[in-house]
Amino acid sequence: MSGAIRVLAISGSLRQGSLNTALLHTVQQLAPASMQVDIYAGLREIPPYDDDVRLAGYPATVVELRAKVRDADALIFSSPEYNRSFSGILKNAIDWVSRPPEQPFQGKVASVMGVGPGAIGTALANYHLRQVLSILGVHVLPGAEVLIGGAAAKFDAQLKLTDENTSKFLATHLHALMKFASKMKQAE
Ligand code: FNR
Repeated sequence: MSGAIRVLAISGSLRQGSLNTALLHTVQQLAPASMQVDIYAGLREIPPYDDDVRLAGYPATVVELRAKVRDADALIFSSPEYNRSFSGILKNAIDWVSRPPEQPFQGKVASVMGVGPGAIGTALANYHLRQVLSILGVHVLPGAEVLIGGAAAKFDAQLKLTDENTSKFLATHLHALMKFASKMKQAE
């Protein structure tokens, strides 16, 4: 798919039945044809952040993640809300990627998403994540954001998104992300 917008999608949950990982699989299905979405599968292998380890040399799994972020035109994060923030394992991975040299997040385009059981979805997790990304020079897609609440009524037992309005909203959001990423890519 030459000229496609390459997206790296990262779920903040390791759980087998994760709704946030399921959301990223839905994103893959709903993405415009010119958008290639790869779901990152290595989060479990990212070690706890240790600056002594970094100074001795980045671990191989971190080198790989940093390269994936560098090579992507855009990033999609989908994290559960844990205690009114995004997940600690996602923060740990972001911390690793955020260190020098050539901090790979700088100038990337991103979308922040989340799905959860509560009435306000992942509203607070999304905002914490936006706050962290902003200091790293990431351009988070402005405007409407994806926070899916009341997940039990929107996903079936096979983790398929069955709520039509949510699907439509997601498809519109992905189209906007593609336009935003294309514009930023042209400006490079
Ligand atoms: C949660 N959960 C939760 N939900 C929420 O709406 N607000 C919150 O602050 C929290 N806090 C929280 C803390 C911890 C430690 C856990 C394990 C869970 C519920 C959580 O968002 C829910 O289980 C999601 O479905 C988890 O996402 P995945 O694993 O399905 O992607």
